[in-house]
Amino acid sequence: MSALSRRHLVTMAAGIAAAAAVPRAVFAQAPAAAPAAAPAAAGPFVLPPLTYPTNALEPHIDAKTMEIHHDRHHQAYVTNLNNLAKTNPQLGSSAIINVLGNLNALNDDIKFAVRNNLGGHANHTMFWEIMAPNGGKPEGEVLAAIDKDLGGLEKFQTDFNAAGGRQFGSGWVFVTVTKEGKLAIETRPNQDNPIMDGKRALMGNDVWEHAYYLNYQNRRADYLKAWWNTVNWSKIAERYAAAKAGTLEV
Ligand SMILES: [Fe+2]
Repeated sequence: MSALSRRHLVTMAAGIAAAAAVPRAVFAQAPAAAPAAAPAAAGPFVLPPLTYPTNALEPHIDAKTMEIHHDRHHQAYVTNLNNLAKTNPQLGSSAIINVLGNLNALNDDIKFAVRNNLGGHANHTMFWEIMAPNGGKPEGEVLAAIDKDLGGLEKFQTDFNAAGGRQFGSGWVFVTVTKEGKLAIETRPNQDNPIMDGKRALMGNDVWEHAYYLNYQNRRADYLKAWWNTVNWSKIAERYAAAKAGTLEV
C-alpha cells in the first residue's frame, strides 16, 4: 500500500479551494477561468503540499499558474477521488499503482472517473516532486542512461520537447523507466499515466493548457523549452534509483 493511500486520517489543509467538478469536467481546458471553488471533501486522498513557494519557479512558471494548477486543478482531482471513495472505499485503501495498473478490474460506472482523477492525482504528484528552483543538472547513472538510451542530454531535450509539442490537445510527455533502468520518451493523452500500461514514469511534463496558458498563451513550445529550468535532477536521481529497486510508485 502506498504512503499516499494510507493517509486516511489526514485532514485536508484548511483554506485550500477545491472544485467539486463532475469527472467529465477534468477534460475541460481552463487556462484563465479556474474551476469554481468548493469545500474540500474529507477522505483518504490528500493534496500533497508544494515543497517550494508558488513563485519559486519564476520566471519559467509564474506564481499564479502554480497556485491555480496546484490548489485548484490538482485539488479537484483529489476532491473527486474522495467523493468516489465514499461509495467505493476500496479506492482509498488500495495502492495507487495497483488501481491504475488494473483499471479493468473496476466497475464500469467508476472506471472512467477513476482513470481521469486518479491518473491526474498520480501525474501531478510526480510533477510537483520533480520540479524545484535551482534543480541542477543530470549526473551519474541518470546522465549515463540519458546518454545510452536517449542520445545525450541535448538530443533528449529536443526530442522530449518535440513529443510534448506533438501531443494533440491535453496530455503529458513522460520519460518512462524500466526496472533495468532503460529510458524512453512516451506521451499519453488526458491524465493517463504509464502505470496504466505496467510502466513507470521517471519524470514528465504537463502539456495541458492549464499548465502554461496564463504566461505562454498558445506558445507551448516556449513553455516546453523554459520548463527545463525547473527540473529537480536530484529528485529524478532518487526516482531512478527507486525504479531500479522496484520501489518507485507514482
Ligand atoms: Fe495539470
